[in-house]
Amino acid sequence: PATVQRGEDGVLGVAGIDVRKLAEEFGTPAYVVDEVDFRSRARAFADAFATAFDGAEVYYAGKAFLCTEVARWVAEEGLSLDVCSGGELAVALRAGFPPERIALHGNNKSIAELSRALDAGVGRIVVDSFDEIARVSQLAAARGVRATVMIRVTVGVEAHTHEYIATAHEDQKFGFSLAGGTAAQAVRRILAEPSLELAGLHSHIGSQIYDTSAFEVAARRLLDLHKDIRDEHGVELAELDLGGGYGIAYTSQDDPQPPEELAAGMAAIIRHECAAHGLAMPRVSVEPGRAIAGPSTFTLYEVGTVKAVELDGGAVRRYVSVDGGMSDNVRAALYDADYSCTLASRRSDAEPVLARVVGKHCESGDIVVKDEFLPADVEPGDLVAVPGTGAYCRSLANTYNHVPRPPVLAVRDGTARVIIRRETEDDLLALDVG
Ligand code: LLP
Repeated sequence: PATVQRGEDGVLGVAGIDVRKLAEEFGTPAYVVDEVDFRSRARAFADAFATAFDGAEVYYAGKAFLCTEVARWVAEEGLSLDVCSGGELAVALRAGFPPERIALHGNNKSIAELSRALDAGVGRIVVDSFDEIARVSQLAAARGVRATVMIRVTVGVEAHTHEYIATAHEDQKFGFSLAGGTAAQAVRRILAEPSLELAGLHSHIGSQIYDTSAFEVAARRLLDLHKDIRDEHGVELAELDLGGGYGIAYTSQDDPQPPEELAAGMAAIIRHECAAHGLAMPRVSVEPGRAIAGPSTFTLYEVGTVKAVELDGGAVRRYVSVDGGMSDNVRAALYDADYSCTLASRRSDAEPVLARVVGKHCESGDIVVKDEFLPADVEPGDLVAVPGTGAYCRSLANTYNHVPRPPVLAVRDGTARVIIRRETEDDLLALDVG
C-alpha cells in the first residue's frame, strides 16, 4: 500500500505504525489493510470511469474481499456493489449499503437469495439462465414489483493475465451464449415478461487481465447485440456492464494499466461502435474487485522454522516456514500464483539467498511465495510481509487442518483496529456438535 515505509531502523511501518507493534498487539498471521489506499483506489476507478464516460457506474466486486467496514468504505466513496451470494448480500445490507446500488450475480441463485434481493430492493439482478428468468419473473410478480435485470452474456472472449482468446470455447457454466443465440432468446423472453425490466447486457471475461483489448472485443460484440435488439424489438438498451478483471502487480514483473488509461481506451471504442451503429451511448458500468482491494493489503507472518534444502546441481533453497499458509492464501496452491515478500521486522545486511516461503499445512503444495531472495540470516521470530493479499485471500480463506482464520486489521493515521476478528479454536469447535 501507499503508506508502507521502512523506518530508519529498517523496520516496515504502515500508516505510521511499526509492524512489530501490530504483531505484538494483534498476533500473526494478520491481514493488514490500509484504509486510505483502499479508498483512494476505489475513488480512482470511480473518477476515471465517470470522466471517460461522462458518468459511469463502478461496482466494487465484493467477492474480492467484503466485510461491513469495507462495504461502508465503498458506499462512502460513491461506488456501487456487486454481490454474488446471499451471504455477501447480508454483509452489504448489514452495513447499510444502499440496496438500489447493489447488483446480484451468480449462476445458481436460490429462491431464498432472489427473494431476499427483491425484498431488499436491490438495483440489478444479473440473470444467468432461462430457469432463473422464470424464477425472477414469478417472484417479482408475486410481490407486485418489476425486477430490473441484466443479461449475463458469454461473448466468446476469455482473458487471463497476459493473453486472451477472442473465440474462446463456450463450454463453461456462466451466461447466455452470443454465438449460440441463447442471448438473443433471453432478450425475447425478458421483454415478454411484464414483471421484468431489461436494463442491459453484462459480460465478464476473466480476471487478472492486462491486455485491455480483450475488453474492447467484448464491448464490440455486446454492442452488436444492442444493435440487433434495436432492429428486432425497437428497444435501445440503456446499460452495458463490462464486468471486472483488471490486473494488478503481484511481482515487479507485472505492469498494469492505470484506471484512467483503461477507461479512456474503453470509452473510445464504445463511442466509436455506438456511432457506427447509430446507437445512443449506453450507461457503462464495470466491476473491479482485485484492482481495488488487492494492493491495499499485506499479510504479516512470523517465521517459525528455516531449513536449507540442497537442490539438484548443488544449489541450496531455504524453506522459510511461516505461521499461516494455504488456509489464509490459497492462491499459490490453487492458481500457481506468484507473490513476493520482504523481511519486515528488522534491517539485515546479510547476503540475499534464494528462499521459498511455505505455510504450516500438511501438504507440500502449501506455498506462500515460490521464489524470493531473503537475507541469509532470516530466523525464527522474524516477521515477513507478503504484499498484494487484499483480494481473494481472506475471501478464499479456509480452516484446513483446523487452523483458524487470521484477523483483518484496518490501519489509518497511526491507528489500527480489528475489522474482522481472529477466528478461534472455540469458533471452530462450536460447529462440531457431535
Ligand atoms: N464481476 C464478475 C461477474 C465476476 O465474476 C468477477 C470475478 C468480478 C466482477 C471481479 O473480478 P476482478 O476485478 O476481481 O478480477 N479467485 C480468483 C478470481 C476469481 C474471479 C471471479 N470473478 C483469483 O483469486 O484469482
